[in-house]
Amino acid sequence: MRNACLVLEKDFKISPVDKRMFGSFVEHLGRCVYNGIYEPGHETANPNGFRTDVIELVKALNISVIRYPGGNFVSGYRWEDGVGPVEKRPSRLDLAWRTLEPNIIGINEFAEWCKSLGSELMVAINLGTRGMQDALNLLEYCNHPSGSLYSDMRISHGAKAPHNVKLWCLGNEMDGPWQTGHKTAGEYGRIAAETARAMKAMYPDIELVACGSSHAKMPTFADWEAEVLAEAYDTVDYVSLHQYFSNETSDTKNFLACSLETDYFIKSVVSICDYIKAKKRGKKDINLSFDEWNVWYHSKKTDDKVMKDDPWKIAPGLLEDVYAFEDALVIGCVLITFLKHADRIKIACLAQLVNVIAPIMTKQGGGICRQTIFYPFLHVSTFGRGEVLLPVTFSEKYDSADFTDVPYLETVGVINEEEAALTIFVVNRDLENSINMRCSLKGFEDYKIVKHIVYQSENLKAVNTVDSPDNVIPVEKPVIYDTDETGSPVINLPNASWNVLRFKINCGNAL
Ligand code: AHR
Repeated sequence: MRNACLVLEKDFKISPVDKRMFGSFVEHLGRCVYNGIYEPGHETANPNGFRTDVIELVKALNISVIRYPGGNFVSGYRWEDGVGPVEKRPSRLDLAWRTLEPNIIGINEFAEWCKSLGSELMVAINLGTRGMQDALNLLEYCNHPSGSLYSDMRISHGAKAPHNVKLWCLGNEMDGPWQTGHKTAGEYGRIAAETARAMKAMYPDIELVACGSSHAKMPTFADWEAEVLAEAYDTVDYVSLHQYFSNETSDTKNFLACSLETDYFIKSVVSICDYIKAKKRGKKDINLSFDEWNVWYHSKKTDDKVMKDDPWKIAPGLLEDVYAFEDALVIGCVLITFLKHADRIKIACLAQLVNVIAPIMTKQGGGICRQTIFYPFLHVSTFGRGEVLLPVTFSEKYDSADFTDVPYLETVGVINEEEAALTIFVVNRDLENSINMRCSLKGFEDYKIVKHIVYQSENLKAVNTVDSPDNVIPVEKPVIYDTDETGSPVINLPNASWNVLRFKINCGNAL
């Protein structure tokens, strides 16, 4: 057993948590849309063909914002194909995933679906095969009330009220050579800046996300951000970050440390944003939209084969990663890292939502399951709203293949004064030993622990599937703990576990 300590001071706050941190992503890819959120023949389908069992689980996750329709898909997408009478919509070859896009679901159906969930819609425009004019047409179609060509077209398509989309992505991963219409930083910076200027001339209150690097290991990383923002600083509001994690070498110790890379990535992008702000003598901060993140590797080999040998199918099973318990620990570590940077990360989208590298899996004509990664997201989305407290941790550390000084204890606290609640999220990265964590809470007059959720599995590779959905699930433990000589609670955190500690504060019932 190890000992560690977390010190939190009630008034040392990093930032309120933006609710858009609990976002997700739906791409026209594999079975995310067709035979995912939309399966008209399914026994739970509503009159619009959307599965209500999916809706229920998405609602449970309380997803604040959903990025749509891609991803790589968007860089070849013609949005007009997806509006108007369904029987007249064309089928198109999608070059990104080498599938056939039937265009049964388009912007109007998806906006309705988001509305039914209470989630905000975040739309990505095509800056691959298309450009400024099409972006303006789509903005007019979505947001203009009536009386113009595209707004009246929307009304004629049955969507009387405008969708009022506030958040727009200026393309997707435009630095990546795999992207249709991939650009250099200079080319992209110009098109992003000019498209943003024109879009804001139409609707000044919209918010725009410029593409950052596809991941931190891109050879152009850092220069890309600096060059793009040098062009687009005045007209954009956010820069995007994307990051996927893998455990290809099956080195779990190393895998669990990968959120250190996320931390470094975030700090680097913040520095670049601030450098450009300084250079421009600017007044505004460019904040971060971490709009793709997840573990992604389990399905890669089979996907490459499907795309190569069996292309141009509608909704083939692609990117259907079945997540192991250890993946959930990584998701927990990354969520904690995001919270620690809540002052600059204002948007984050778990990629993706259903079937495609997703917390929710469905079977065509069958059941549904919460993958292992569902739970840490659920917990942070449920209990992590409030203000993040600056965590000071004392923990032993380890070295792994790619990282040095990895703390066994990864933790953060979020206070919600309205609910008189403090929630501490913790991952114990130690695969063998439990940790006794002392919580030194300063400035809190009185408090008590009311909940301890523990998510642990003897088998780090255990999975949940539609046929065996509850293999690994979190449990609420009886709240039992010791106190040290100062009266601080000391909580035992099992080896390789995700924990949620919920405190009631100001409860007039001192420990
Ligand atoms: O989420 C899957 C893919 O990952 C997205 O289409 C792309 O943006 C990224 O490379």
